Amino acid sequence: MNRIKMILDCDTGHDDAIALMIASKHPDIDLLGVTVVAGNQTLDKTLPNTLHVVQHLGLDVPVYGGMAKPIVKVQEVAEDVHGKSGLDGPVFEELRIKAQPEHAVNYLIRTLMESDGDITLVPVGPLTNIAMAILLEPRIVNKIRQIVLMGGAVGIGNTTPSAEFNIYVDPEAAHIVFSSGVKITMMPLDLTNTALADESVIERMRNIGNKAGKLFADIMSFTLHSQAVNGLSAGPVHDVTAVTYLVAPDLYETVDAYVQIDLSKGPSYGRTVCDIYGRSGLEKNATIGMKIRLKEFWDLVEDTLRRHI
Ligand code: RIB
Ligand code: CA
Repeated sequence: MNRIKMILDCDTGHDDAIALMIASKHPDIDLLGVTVVAGNQTLDKTLPNTLHVVQHLGLDVPVYGGMAKPIVKVQEVAEDVHGKSGLDGPVFEELRIKAQPEHAVNYLIRTLMESDGDITLVPVGPLTNIAMAILLEPRIVNKIRQIVLMGGAVGIGNTTPSAEFNIYVDPEAAHIVFSSGVKITMMPLDLTNTALADESVIERMRNIGNKAGKLFADIMSFTLHSQAVNGLSAGPVHDVTAVTYLVAPDLYETVDAYVQIDLSKGPSYGRTVCDIYGRSGLEKNATIGMKIRLKEFWDLVEDTLRRHI
């Protein structure tokens, strides 16, 4: 089977780090590069956080720094969930590796335009980098195979009652992406909040006995308590569900729907308005993940972590 060519766009972040661990070692994925955006923390934190995971696990993947601010909205970070560093919990050695000199947006444009249209983008943070690439070079829309993203909510949000963090941080960027015409699959909170790394999951991965299993445990142990802000008793690995969809779509129940980003500056700013029942009559622009088979999901995560050092 040809491996799936993908670029991970992230705001590392605890669950982003796990998503990187899965994307970098799953046998069916060819991880071409990692682009980093401000989100969970400012870019001067999310970029080194990403590099730390790459260095710690000896990953052979280029990392590119991207947009440091949302396109329009005043920047907000998720310090209450991810801590001051954006990846509180694990202790890393001094950083010895560096990001590539090319800006992430330019990397995305160059790589997509040079491609055969066979690259999947997997954004798991605010969509600022992806939107900027589309604005700068609209022709990439026809060169992106598909976008599989973590973001949005069919039901209630986690950052406001209406909006999920990745969309809320840069709603205008989300609007540009969702109205671009690119094939989109969206993993919303309704699904990702069920992928909970509780004590038993953390113990299971720690017991793998390698660096990756220990890193999983050190990372997710921090979120056992920090996610209480969202009324959760453990850490959801939100972003991982976007990566595993690529290699195991049969684990998911999905529905196709028209999704609109609410840009009104009221209490629903940044909401993904998901027309699940087709009431609008508007053309469906997204496939939405509604449920995931968790036993097989965690088996896939464990099997992939075992492939690491
Ligand atoms: O709302 C969850 C999302 O926001 C995840 O991507 C998490 O990493 C944060 O970026
Ligand atoms: Ca993220």
